[in-house]
Amino acid sequence: MERNRFPDIEREFQAREPLYSEWFPLLEGRRVVLDIGCGHGDFLIEKTDQSPESFFVGIEISRKRVAKTSHRLAKRNRKNYAVIHGDGEWALKVFFSTASVDEIHINFPDPWLRKRHWKNRLLRPSFVLQVIRVLKKGGKIFFVTDVEEYARYAVEVFRQFEWLQSVYPTEIVQNLYERFPTLFYQKMSPLRPIQYVCFEKIENSLLG
Ligand SMILES: C[S@@+](CC[C@H](N)C(=O)[O-])C[C@H]1O[C@@H](n2cnc3c(N)ncnc32)[C@H](O)[C@@H]1O
Repeated sequence: MERNRFPDIEREFQAREPLYSEWFPLLEGRRVVLDIGCGHGDFLIEKTDQSPESFFVGIEISRKRVAKTSHRLAKRNRKNYAVIHGDGEWALKVFFSTASVDEIHINFPDPWLRKRHWKNRLLRPSFVLQVIRVLKKGGKIFFVTDVEEYARYAVEVFRQFEWLQSVYPTEIVQNLYERFPTLFYQKMSPLRPIQYVCFEKIENSLLG
């Protein structure tokens, strides 16, 4: 039996080619929100229901988690979403035009704690350049983690770019919400404080 086949994923866009003719009409004229590293899709399940007028895109590197997210959203009959299977930085480059996105959410990214593994982190300068390019002016990137050191690293990276400004005066806010709709929030919030970082694109960059 062939393994790892998920033939019936709804609303999935894959690496094969950016099907712009299918893609652009979905986003046109709507508030566009991305969840990068969407895991099992809990954040998308809550937000697609709360904001039916917005369009949500989950991006996830694990094929199994893409399938799970897709099935859970389809089962709830949501129409305002798509799921991309692939790396976050790659997906921004391939699927999103300049100044087309309102919000980017990164919830509990894998922290890769050892310094020699930092190169594996989703959040790195080349990724942030893509974030700046795809965000609209006034668009925001939200970064949530239970790892204080990763939150500090994120702030350090965001600060390198003059087009971004912290939304919170203290740059990192702890325990901002009593409840946050992701699986990893449920796992981690009883163990340690949750760190919230949010930066806004304040002006158009050379990138867009
Ligand atoms: C710790 S889990 C958090 C999942 C979910 N956001 C939550 O809060 O419950 C991190 C997720 O990011 C995904 N991931 C890791 N690296 C990624 C990358 N480069 N691009 C997209 N997704 C990635 C992992 O497969 C995993 O599902």
